Amino acid sequence: MSTMQISFKLNGEDVAVEIAANTLLVDLLREELGLTGTKTGCREGECGACTVLVDGEPFNSCLLPAMKADGRQVTTIEGLGDDEGAVESIQQAFMDMGAAQCGFCTPGMILTAKSLLDKNPAPEEAEIRQALTGVLCRCTGYRKIVQAVQAVAQHNGGEVTS
Ligand code: FES
Ligand code: FES
Repeated sequence: MSTMQISFKLNGEDVAVEIAANTLLVDLLREELGLTGTKTGCREGECGACTVLVDGEPFNSCLLPAMKADGRQVTTIEGLGDDEGAVESIQQAFMDMGAAQCGFCTPGMILTAKSLLDKNPAPEEAEIRQALTGVLCRCTGYRKIVQAVQAVAQHNGGEVTS
């Protein structure tokens, strides 16, 4: 198997790794770099549990060859908040609203919501629901997840319409 060297920014830190050409980003993150906050579910691009941000956009890391991360910025759930325990507003909102049960979908949900909020600080409910369609939750019925994103949107000046 041929290998290659890639370098990218991972959660703000420079990373350089040697990978097999067929390595998937999710496996690089979890197996080689130890960032197990990124989950694996279907490994077919259906469930969104493996969602990470690449240059601020959500991607299914189970479908993304790790070589595609070369030169780019990758954010996993471990990259949110800081080392002192501070969390981002969307993480706090998930806690406040009880928007996680088993938590399996939560990293993908939070990163997808973060990407939306970074682009659109006060999205409407329909925009939130549309943005989150790529991440499946088996537990919460989505209501509390949407409410958590709405809470941040409201804090950012948006109106909650339902
Ligand atoms: S594990 Fe990647 S989409 Fe399901
Ligand atoms: S909280 Fe269990 S899958 Fe979403």
